[in-house]
Amino acid sequence: MSERSAADEARIERLTCVITGAASERGIGRGVALTLARHGRPLALLDLDEDGLVTAAEAARAAGAPHVVTARVDIADEASVDTALTAVEQDEGAPAVGALVSCAGIANPTPFLEMTSAAFERTLRINTLGTFHLARRVLPGMLDQGLGRILAIGSTAAQDGGGNYSTSAYAASKAGVEGLLRGLAKETAGTGVTTAVIAPANIDTDIMGGRLEGERREQFVARTPVGRLGTTEELGELVAYLVGAHGGFTTGATYNLNGGLRVG
Ligand SMILES: NC(=O)c1ccc[n+]([C@@H]2O[C@H](COP(=O)([O-])OP(=O)(O)OC[C@H]3O[C@@H](n4cnc5c(N)ncnc54)[C@H](O)[C@@H]3O)[C@@H](O)[C@H]2O)c1
Repeated sequence: MSERSAADEARIERLTCVITGAASERGIGRGVALTLARHGRPLALLDLDEDGLVTAAEAARAAGAPHVVTARVDIADEASVDTALTAVEQDEGAPAVGALVSCAGIANPTPFLEMTSAAFERTLRINTLGTFHLARRVLPGMLDQGLGRILAIGSTAAQDGGGNYSTSAYAASKAGVEGLLRGLAKETAGTGVTTAVIAPANIDTDIMGGRLEGERREQFVARTPVGRLGTTEELGELVAYLVGAHGGFTTGATYNLNGGLRVG
């Protein structure tokens, strides 16, 4: 294996970052998209929600993204992932895919004994299998170009067995994401492809049953040791580091971003 150089890693800045879950107006995918746009990165925005993708693309262009392509995707469906990524690859003006940021996901607050097998499976199908479908689809191109970053948004729930608005199925689905990308980090070692999971909690989005306001917001803040909720921009800046020129010396790691809710 020949020694890789910092210049090899810097090529990543010119390649397309694929972000799933970018349609949700106050969501993590949107925050990551806008942050990477401000860093001047070409973007491919994917989601189930096509209307939301239109406004996401407008906002990303306005924030500075040099090129933005959108595609509808259901990440639970492997054929849909293939169709969406093929559209991205065929888009005129979109550089090759350099990074995947798998943000699309669902919460599941159902107690264990009320959980049906179908609901459990749906949670894993979207959160875990969805990340597998995406990573499986983008990896060959990354290996060919000798460079790529595969990131997924996990959750504190993976380590804590659940969270503010989630129980065992969600915890299992996010633990699966961590195991998946740790395994992939080992298999891709030395190829120029790296992986990472960001495990957030208490980021101010609508996933926890709608906008956090009033007494409900106060309860969330009171449970967060740093004394406030996290922002999607803070998470976006961590992603910007990981998918940037200096993010290539970390692989297989989980980055906690939870305001001290869980230390370690
Ligand atoms: N907000 C938090 O505090 C927090 C904490 C831990 C983990 N997370 C994780 O962060 C990710 C984003 O959460 P968010 O808070 O932005 O939620 P959100 O509900 O605002 O956004 C989720 C997005 O995923 C999309 N999506 C859902 N299912 C899809 C599918 N099958 N195919 C394609 N797109 C699909 C939705 O349309 C939506 O745009 C999720 O994976 C979530 O589990 C969030």
